[in-house]
Amino acid sequence: MAEVKVSMEVGNDGVAVITISNPPVNALAIPVISGLIDKFDEAARRNDAKAIVVTGKGGKFSGGFDINIFEKVHKTGDVTLLPNVSIELVVSKVEDSKKPVVSAIEGLALGGGLELAMGCHARIAVPKTQLHLPELTLGVIPGMGGTQRLPRLIGLSKAVEMMVVSYQNQSCLKKGKKLGLIDAIVPPEDLLEVSRLWAREIAEGHKPWIRSLYRTDKLGSQSETREILKIAREQARKIAPNVPQHQACLDAIEDGIIHGGYYGLLREIEISKKLVSSDTSKSLIHVFFAQRATSKVSNVTDIGLKPRQLKKVGVIGGGLMGSGIATALIVGNIYVVLKEVNSEYLLKGIKMVEANVHGLVTRGKLTRDKADKALSLLKGVLDYSGFKDVDMVIEAVIENISLKQEIFSDIEKVCPPHCILATNTSTIDLNIIGEKTSSQDRIVGAHFFSPAHIMPLLEIVRTDKTSAQVILDLMTVGKIIKKVPVVVGNCPGFAVNRAFFPYGQSSHILVNLGVDLFRIDRAITSFGLPMGPFLLADVAGYGVSLLAGKVLVDAFSDRTFQSPLLHLLVKSGRNGKNNGKGLYIHEKGSKPKPDLSVLPVIEESRRLTNMMTNGKPISVTDQEIVEMILFPVVNEACRVLDEGIIIRASDLDIASVLGMGFPSYRGGIIFWADLVGPKYVYTSLKKWSELYGNFFKPSTYLEERALKGIPLSAPASSKARL
Ligand SMILES: *[C@@H]1O[C@H](CO)[C@@H](O)[C@H](O)[C@H]1NC(C)=O
Ligand SMILES: *[C@@H]1O[C@H](CO)[C@@H](O)[C@H](O)[C@H]1NC(C)=O
Ligand SMILES: *[C@@H]1O[C@H](CO)[C@@H](O)[C@H](O)[C@H]1NC(C)=O
Ligand SMILES: *[C@@H]1O[C@H](CO)[C@@H](O)[C@H](O)[C@H]1NC(C)=O
Ligand SMILES: *[C@@H]1O[C@H](CO)[C@@H](O)[C@H](O)[C@H]1NC(C)=O
Repeated sequence: MAEVKVSMEVGNDGVAVITISNPPVNALAIPVISGLIDKFDEAARRNDAKAIVVTGKGGKFSGGFDINIFEKVHKTGDVTLLPNVSIELVVSKVEDSKKPVVSAIEGLALGGGLELAMGCHARIAVPKTQLHLPELTLGVIPGMGGTQRLPRLIGLSKAVEMMVVSYQNQSCLKKGKKLGLIDAIVPPEDLLEVSRLWAREIAEGHKPWIRSLYRTDKLGSQSETREILKIAREQARKIAPNVPQHQACLDAIEDGIIHGGYYGLLREIEISKKLVSSDTSKSLIHVFFAQRATSKVSNVTDIGLKPRQLKKVGVIGGGLMGSGIATALIVGNIYVVLKEVNSEYLLKGIKMVEANVHGLVTRGKLTRDKADKALSLLKGVLDYSGFKDVDMVIEAVIENISLKQEIFSDIEKVCPPHCILATNTSTIDLNIIGEKTSSQDRIVGAHFFSPAHIMPLLEIVRTDKTSAQVILDLMTVGKIIKKVPVVVGNCPGFAVNRAFFPYGQSSHILVNLGVDLFRIDRAITSFGLPMGPFLLADVAGYGVSLLAGKVLVDAFSDRTFQSPLLHLLVKSGRNGKNNGKGLYIHEKGSKPKPDLSVLPVIEESRRLTNMMTNGKPISVTDQEIVEMILFPVVNEACRVLDEGIIIRASDLDIASVLGMGFPSYRGGIIFWADLVGPKYVYTSLKKWSELYGNFFKPSTYLEERALKGIPLSAPASSKARL
């Protein structure tokens, strides 16, 4: 593709307009960077060009540095693939240019895009432009001068806020103008004209010619700097305890303030290179691409099928899950008929949807207008009237096989023949649910994670008979309602609940081996999951854990540990958060606190299982606790891979991040295991299986790969079944 990425035109006014063109977001890919260097050289040479404007084609300035380059560095381990864009483009060609440069910004200037703009001598933007330095989300720091120029443009304290503390939030353009990041905000139709004029006025000495890197007027005194950075470092330790990029970003800022901007740039490059090779950056960038990869499913998305539009969906069951699903759909602009068995339940369901929608408004995720529009798309019914023209039904009733079978044979009769028949079951075999219908090609699992209107993962469960069209349609609707759809095969627990089935069990083993239950939760949260296994059980309610667990316990009895603890808790009148009596004390507005009155129940469990040698607790480090809980998950994930339940390892990575809150900076469950080393995972499990039994026994998939030194994520050569 010899497509022109950067073009230049010199107008009669003596202004050279350099335009980046790399759809969809004008990412700064290697050819764009070299194209910019060429065009700036050309503008410098040409006598008819007195001043320069740089802008982006298609209503967008630039989405930033091309992330594919990071991926390439990770695959090859070659950091010299990173271009020296900070010095060779931004300093040499833009900031140090003998002709003034103005950036004309529209749409977005993110990451390297904004950094390029900061190297210019002035910045003009249109309303609603996104300005944002999100580099820390990828485990790196701004690498094109952002750590140096932003503090010099808007002051240290605001720069730290924008780059290190609120880097996941978009900054406000108006604030940007007030702070000095933007010189003028103009209507889109005037953008180029004003920018050209501005550039000429600089050239003619009517407007200041400012090189941001050499400004010091906003930097404040040394003692102020020290104080701001000290507070920022403490804050960063709290919001990002397990990753290096926040402190590293502050290092680069600090060095530049002490030793000068140019020195700071060189430090920034040095630190960026080091961070790109860190496990954190590898993990975060892996997760980024893993999410993208989910939308490619062979024999579904590559065979020329067109997704059908699903305009109206029937949801059966207005409980927690059903109302969450209905919420997600109406917010995604899809008509919903919500069915319940009586008016009391129906009213309750509708109230829940309303509360969900209002919650989204309160949290600023939805405008009031959109909320009203969404609620107008919801209709409650007590029978199947209104199901005659639905394009999909999602059944979300309690896990009861005969009830579900009944519902499926009913809806097969009333719904149109193209209608997709989806179930939210997490435990029942889809083939059994569809047994009493003759529409098995239309039956599919739509496994949402609770609360369904918030959690981003959607497991799409297919059987051998589910048609490609149905899978494609559900993937499409999933995207419309802002979920990340991951297509998985049919087995007890499907991919996520199955892989995480050992998570609760190993934590119970540890408790019965004498390890403090609350310490286990602390170790897991320090590792980076949002909640430890026991707080999770409290929040979900023990009934749910027992019920959902049962199916998996039955299916995988060879590797099951049946702890009496939950039963004992229920017997002692506890059911977790929802009856106000759990392992923790749950009080509104404060963090859950360990409920020490539960200790006798735990002692009772230990007495019954009698797993401790001479009644003495085992001695483990926090790291061993984490490994004893998560390596069995890796082990089960290996079986999920081996059986072809998922089509690529990265699907399980993204599913573990979005469904279980596995920390994205560790790359997902399989990616993490490969970083830790399959051999180490294997030998640890083997040792524990000898000490504590079959639960820990390594799977053959893990054993083979560990012994042969093959990463767990490497595709199986022949075994792909789906
Ligand atoms: C980038 O280029 C500048 C100027 O040529 C040089 O001083 C600097 O060392 C280079 N940095 C790297 C990492 O190559
Ligand atoms: C991001 O923005 C939201 C909503 O404006 C705000 O509540 C939150 O505190 C911000 N986050 C940070 C880290 O500033
Ligand atoms: C796709 O379908 C073809 C024909 O049914 C089959 O031979 C092939 O194995 C399938 N490929 C995958 C990756 O499932
Ligand atoms: C399951 O559903 C069937 C059919 O609706 C009902 O007869 C049965 O009582 C239910 N079983 C349980 C345990 O709720
Ligand atoms: C399906 O919905 C019902 C009703 O809300 C709920 O009890 C059940 O747990 C849900 N299933 C899954 C997989 O969440």
